[in-house]
Amino acid sequence: MTDNADIAALIRTIPDFPKPGIQFRDITTLLLDAKGLAATVERLAALHPGPFDMVAGIEARGFIFGAAVAQALGTGLVLIRKDGKLPGRTVAVDYALEYGEDRIEMHEDALVPGCRVLLIDDLIATGGTALAAIRLLRKAGAEVGGAAFVIDLPDLGGAAKIAADGVPVAALVP
Ligand code: PRP
Ligand code: HPA
Repeated sequence: MTDNADIAALIRTIPDFPKPGIQFRDITTLLLDAKGLAATVERLAALHPGPFDMVAGIEARGFIFGAAVAQALGTGLVLIRKDGKLPGRTVAVDYALEYGEDRIEMHEDALVPGCRVLLIDDLIATGGTALAAIRLLRKAGAEVGGAAFVIDLPDLGGAAKIAADGVPVAALVP
């Protein structure tokens, strides 16, 4: 079993972005590397036992990995987007940010009720975004069978919140 050190080495940390004090984990350098990108997709797709009926990707970087994982698993991809971006009728969930509120949406007719969905994003920090995505998928009648991330920032406790919500959670690199 790999420790994913090859993937970790391709992710750079940029200090003080987008604000002073934040150590930003930048996956654009991983995307530039053909072998690293392929390994990331293959290992993300293998983090949870299937079968899955659909992959859900969270805007924006979750779209990149989500589309590739959907291809690997032979499923479609449902987009979970920020407020006001989807053209059709949507279901929405509001969630709290450190300061203020945000809203995510998906098309209300995107999922067959009872379908088993794998949730994908590049990174889990506080878990606020992923928890809201899980609420949204459940609101649409889906079963969230797993949540998979390239990076987990475990000190922020997001993955533990997802697990406490009853969704198996895993990430490739800390
Ligand atoms: C980042 C990241 C996750 C989320 C994680 O997205 O890609 O979606 O934050 O943070 P959380 O666990 O504390 O909720 P961001 O909000 O930067 O959006 P973007 O991908 O559209 O830039
Ligand atoms: N990188 C990318 N997205 C993020 C980060 C980060 O370090 N922290 C919270 N969202």
